[in-house]
Amino acid sequence: MKVQLQHNGRKISYNIAGSGKTIVLLHGFLESQKIWEPFAAQLCKSFKVITIDLPGHGDTEVFGETHSMEFMAAMVKSILDTQNIEKAILVGHSMGGYVSFAFAKQFPERVHGLVIFHSHAAADTEEAKMNRSRTIQVVEDNRIGFIKNFIPDLFAPENTESLKDQIELLKAQAEQTPKAGIIAALKGMKERSDNTALLDEIKSPVLFIIGKKDKRISISQVMEQAIAPAHCEVLLLDGVGHMGYLEAPRLTLTTIADFCRKI
Ligand code: MLT
Repeated sequence: MKVQLQHNGRKISYNIAGSGKTIVLLHGFLESQKIWEPFAAQLCKSFKVITIDLPGHGDTEVFGETHSMEFMAAMVKSILDTQNIEKAILVGHSMGGYVSFAFAKQFPERVHGLVIFHSHAAADTEEAKMNRSRTIQVVEDNRIGFIKNFIPDLFAPENTESLKDQIELLKAQAEQTPKAGIIAALKGMKERSDNTALLDEIKSPVLFIIGKKDKRISISQVMEQAIAPAHCEVLLLDGVGHMGYLEAPRLTLTTIADFCRKI
């Protein structure tokens, strides 16, 4: 069921289906809740599944010049409040993972588990911040050109031919993201806090999903973070870049479902 509600005077959009333990699926930068449709269709047979368009993406409006990870996390909480859901397992792809950490920091008692899907807990390095500023300029000048180059680069090179239709679809969906939404997300990611200390304290189980060919995330950095939580599991994927939900859909879906079932 598609739901739209007002948050701070603007429209937010999410989907809810199924019953049981709650799983919240959070998309990454330039994506929308649409990416989770195949996962949600399976998971909702055993769980309550919520997929959310994060601010400035999909059908959720732009709220300001910067969409901080904390702001996005507060939006997730307000959806859980509206649905009277006490605790949820958050599954965050990339930027969605940053939002999941911001949520776990602000509302630890609401977290049942975390699935950090091609993401990590650290802040941007100084170099990454400079790259973000350059990216903002590129998006200002040529949003469509940026999307055209950005999306294929998220995949392991050996997958780009077999997944060319999905890549075209992702590009078309990313093109629906308004310039203001793209820039607000880039600014939010650039300013995000370092949440690595949280990993030492976190009581909820954590699953990291890592693509060995991910160019956007440092694998050694994530592996180091995965040692910290009291209960942590790792799925390390060969021949996968940043898009495991398309590059290894069966394995990532069953691993998430098994993790959610047992915690
Ligand atoms: C994403 O896929 O959400 C972003 O690439 C993450 C990032 O740029 O740090």
